Formats: sequence, C-alpha cells, structure tokens
Amino acid sequence: MLSDLPLFPQPASTTAAQVDALYLFLVALSGFLSLLIAGLLVGFAVRYRRGSRADRTGAGHGSTRLELFWTITPLLVSMSIFVWGAKVFFHINRPPDDTMNILVVGKRWMWKLQHLNGRREINELHVPVGRAVKLTMTSEDVIHSFYVPAFRVKADVLPGRYTTLWFEPTRPGRYHLFCAEYCGTRHSGMTGWVVVMQPQDFQAWLGGDARDVSPARAGERLFTNLGCATCHNPGSGARGPSLHGVYGTRIALKGGATAAADDGYLRESILDPQAKIVDGYEPLMPTFRGLVGEEGLMQIIEYIKTMPPAPAPGKS
Ligand code: CUA
Repeated sequence: MLSDLPLFPQPASTTAAQVDALYLFLVALSGFLSLLIAGLLVGFAVRYRRGSRADRTGAGHGSTRLELFWTITPLLVSMSIFVWGAKVFFHINRPPDDTMNILVVGKRWMWKLQHLNGRREINELHVPVGRAVKLTMTSEDVIHSFYVPAFRVKADVLPGRYTTLWFEPTRPGRYHLFCAEYCGTRHSGMTGWVVVMQPQDFQAWLGGDARDVSPARAGERLFTNLGCATCHNPGSGARGPSLHGVYGTRIALKGGATAAADDGYLRESILDPQAKIVDGYEPLMPTFRGLVGEEGLMQIIEYIKTMPPAPAPGKS
C-alpha cells in the first residue's frame, strides 16, 4: 500500500516491512486522534453555540471512572508504541552474527567502499540478495549519513569513530543511496546506488578485478611498514602486548578497568595510545595520527582480526 506512493520506495530489505508497519500504525493513530478531536471540537462548537437550543442541564463535574479511562488508555497505547519501537530499534541496531562485512569511508563528496577481498567501489555498492551485510563506516572529514530508503536504514558516518549499519536485501535491483546529513556545497550530489544481485552474479562480479589487494593484506603491509611488529610481537621482549587473537576479547587495563577489543578500541589505541594502557605495559607507544589515514586504519584493523591466537608468550 505504502509502496504505491513515490514517497515510499518498494521495500527491499528484511527491515523494511517492520519499519513500514510501525510507521503506518503511528500515522493511522495520529490521523484517528486528529480527526476525533477536530470532529468533536467542531461538533460541540456548533451544538453549544451561543443562542442554540441545546440541552445544557446535567453537565458533569468529575468522574473517577472517566478519568481512569482517559489516563490508562493513552498509557497502554503509548507503552505499546514504546515496546514495538524498541523491538524494531534492537533489530536495526544488532546485526546478526554471520554478516558479509564491507568498509565504508565517507568524504566530501563521495562514498568509498571496499569489500573484504579487496574490490573497491565509489558511490556504488554491490551486494548479494538474501545475505546480511554489515557496513563499518567512518568519515575523513565531516559528518555524513548513509541512507538507503528502499532498505529503510540510515546511520550517521562520523569522523573519529566507527559506526555500523546492517541490512539484508530481499529483492535484486538498483536502489538509491543518499547522504542524509548536510555536509557542504555538494551534499545533494553525494548519492549513489546499491546494486542487489543474485548470489552467483555477485560472486562473478566480486572476483572480476584481481588487481585489488584485500584490506587484511594491505593492513599487513602497513603493519610492517609502520614498524608495529617491533613491539607488538610475541617474541620481542613484549614492549607492547601481543595482538594475536586479541580482537573480540576483553582487555585488562592498567588501574583495574577492562575494555572490549573492538574496532573502536583498536582505532583509538593506534591514534591515541595513551588513552587506554594494557595492564602490565608502560605507556611507550607514540601516536600514529597523521601517519595512517582512515582507510589504512580500517585495513590494519582487518589485519589484526586475521591474526590467529598465538600460544601465550610468557612476559618474563
Ligand atoms: Cu555527505 Cu551530506
């Protein structure tokens, strides 16, 4: 029904139906209440206008039952909107465990995307139908926002941190991609397409350009060139903690706190190493701010994710 309006593009993800149902309910409820209130207002104004012969006897002065009714009914309605909205919110904000991961860097005024096998795209994103896709996103300059109306998903893309967005396309086709946060002169031109393909077509497309280096491989090169391995090496006398198998674990920090070793933690530890010191180590590491760009950071983190857990080095 909604999809007949050009305002609402054909739903094309598993999220879309949920968002549409909630939205439709809210519009219907608002419409119903607006009509009810406006109707009563006009009706009473006409009926009880000055000089009319309407019966004015027996006007009520307080009724506990009536007051309970108009207190409890709106409470139940608004709480059900809250619970329903929270359910959809959790669905949108919690990607499933098994996702296809893609890196996204926004900059004025384009979207740069990279698949984990290395294939790069600009202002276009190719994905297979029926597969959950997770985007890890950041910005090189100002705040942008990644918005695909047909999927009913949108997330801000912020400088200095990672945000994620996930969706599972349900229909092959080409869908508009917009930047939904004003970011300067050519904000309105910061658009693109999401191309949803059949899985076999997608595989053929993905393998089409063999020149690209995977982010993990590129990250390994950066790791070597920046000299990270000098300290972060199980056999180096442990000036820095080993990074093998560290991703996804909880890290004990100096002072007794802990931190989850996720993308954001690794990024911070590269750019601002003094922010969180791993328990048992000295704050010796210099910042790598300015030496490695946003794409490089994502690549190094992809490389760290691929490091297998190593046998405990024994910090003696
Ligand atoms: Cu990028 Cu608006």
